[in-house]
Amino acid sequence: MVRIAAVGDLHIRAGVPIGMADELLALRDQADVLVLAGDITDGGRIPEVEAAADLLRPVGLPIVAVLGNHDRRCLRRTAFRRILESAGVTLLDGEATVLDIGVRLGFAGVGGYGGGFWPDEGPALPHHRAAQALAVRARREAVRLDQALCQLDAKVKIVVMHYAPTTSTLGSEPPIKYWMLGNIELAHVIDRHDVDLVIHGHAHLGNTYGQTTGGTPVRNVATTVTGGPIVHELPVRENHRRMPVVYPVVETAT
Ligand SMILES: [Fe+2]
Ligand SMILES: [Fe+2]
Repeated sequence: MVRIAAVGDLHIRAGVPIGMADELLALRDQADVLVLAGDITDGGRIPEVEAAADLLRPVGLPIVAVLGNHDRRCLRRTAFRRILESAGVTLLDGEATVLDIGVRLGFAGVGGYGGGFWPDEGPALPHHRAAQALAVRARREAVRLDQALCQLDAKVKIVVMHYAPTTSTLGSEPPIKYWMLGNIELAHVIDRHDVDLVIHGHAHLGNTYGQTTGGTPVRNVATTVTGGPIVHELPVRENHRRMPVVYPVVETAT
């Protein structure tokens, strides 16, 4: 069993909400790793990412993160990245990393993009030109995720993204907004790679559990959905062909 703490959409401004530091510190004894599913900051500003780093530095766990659309507003990306890295965060942007915690626990991470879920899970966008532009960017992110997964040599494989690969975790988000919340190309890549778990954020009105069209378990960890960091306990499989999804997964809310 590996214990993955995860939270998305902290949207940290210069001041950190009361209680957040304690919630994160409490994870130290409950999890093997902390995953941040993007929108770490609210506006991608340097004081915000400095506040995030101050919050994350004492956590004492390996931290794996991807950027969200709010983080991408940053005009000083290199500085943004360095500040997070100074707090022990491994930022994945089309990359993979492996933690050896007695089992090789692997992460492939990419921000992702919108574009919608046509044809598997939703209607095509009405505006053809806009749909084409989105599809180009969506495909580029999917290719980067594919490359990251191809590099990943691990017993347990986890994909971290900001955008969603399925509508099954979009909960009460209005369908008219689905094209802004993720895309199906990401699911197609994930389902080719025998992934154990997908963690994403971004869908603030979404729901917790879902799965890709190919049956890979998906969790939306946007803090507005979960109420704060969660700890997901994931069994280590003997063979690495995906097993049927069985819920509920053992979980502790913090
Ligand atoms: Fe967000
Ligand atoms: Fe977002």
